[in-house]
Amino acid sequence: MPRRPPLACVLVCVTLPALAAPASATTLRAAAALSGLHVGAATGQVELAAGAATLVAAEFGSVTAENDMKWSVLEPAPGVRDWSRADALVTFAEANGMRVRGHTLVWGRSNGPPSWLEASLAASPDPSLALEDLMLGHIAAVAGRYAGRIHSWDVVNEPLAFSSASYDTSSPYYRHLGPGFVADAFRAARAADPGAKLYLNEVGTETNPAKFEGLLTLLEGLLAEGVPIDGVGLQGHFLARPNRADLTARLQAIAALGLEVEITELDLPLVLFGARPDPLAAQAAAYADVFSACLAVAACRGITTWGVTDAGSWLDDEPFFRSFAPNRPLLFDEQGSPKPAREAVVAVLLAVPEPGPAASLALGLLALAAHGRLRRRPRTS
Ligand code: G3I
Repeated sequence: MPRRPPLACVLVCVTLPALAAPASATTLRAAAALSGLHVGAATGQVELAAGAATLVAAEFGSVTAENDMKWSVLEPAPGVRDWSRADALVTFAEANGMRVRGHTLVWGRSNGPPSWLEASLAASPDPSLALEDLMLGHIAAVAGRYAGRIHSWDVVNEPLAFSSASYDTSSPYYRHLGPGFVADAFRAARAADPGAKLYLNEVGTETNPAKFEGLLTLLEGLLAEGVPIDGVGLQGHFLARPNRADLTARLQAIAALGLEVEITELDLPLVLFGARPDPLAAQAAAYADVFSACLAVAACRGITTWGVTDAGSWLDDEPFFRSFAPNRPLLFDEQGSPKPAREAVVAVLLAVPEPGPAASLALGLLALAAHGRLRRRPRTS
């Protein structure tokens, strides 16, 4: 499906509102629809039930399960499934015509694996076989339950080490199954939900060139093996002010592999702009840069903020960023009112440029050449 609306709609739907009304008169959701970009927020059943539902449905066309679809939540004890939170989120999205990003089937960090997993593996005569069975069973159960209702799955989250290009060797998946767990997970996800877009989601590659190279190497290996992967999520938890040109080049490099790409967990804490005279304005400009970078690359399909309002950001509980709380990294303030960043994003979405396909291809090839990767084989699936 083309990302951008037909020319007639561009002229009537985009030009007129952009000229006739300030950005604040248009919802973020409406502006996103006009641009063809999926713009979403991470949220969950608890937050929605506590009052965020109206804002989320009005302003976002997509939701990601911030926590409700993690294995630790879905299977709190071995063999005991709790679908209540995930079901509620999917039902909410469907009732409001929203896209759902499933997050995440296989994540080896934090509370991605359930707390009982290590003990269960330790008690098994063959921990590798046990984990393989559990992982494949989990993917089949979860992706199978929601088959046809999830637009895209973060199948594997953060397979690489936090700040280097190598695999995360502390992950139970890597320790017990080796690097092949990534391909196995994608194949299982495709079998369970053939219609979902299958993503590999990674942290920190936006600002770490060496890690980004490692990500490209991993992707090339998967594609060469014929692994059914459709896209890449660059999380977008920026540790420095985003550089629009660098980000655009990274998006183009992924696009040139034949994959789609999304910014899946965007947040920009105010501490990144603390030295500026107007940090909220600087934050708005940075948000505009990220959205502009995505809009400039046809394969960039969506941007999701990691949270809805500044009242619910994970950063305020994170050990490093906690000391800067309130981090205020999102598009809506603690009361749910639009911030300058939300206005800047709407303005960018309403002013969508229309790059031709030839220009996109040329930019992608240039990006790959810059990474010394023009000789790779074409995508096989
Ligand atoms: O649900 C319990 C609640 O019952 C309890 O009262 C409370 C006490 O602290 O904890 C609650 O669970 C917490 C949960 O967030 C919901 O707030 C967990 O302890 C906490 O670990 C969990 O943190 C989440 C973290 O992933 C680990 O799963 C964050 O909300 C979530 O934003 C964060 O998201 C990750 C992505 O999945 C992957 N990429 C990085 C991103 C940020 O770390």
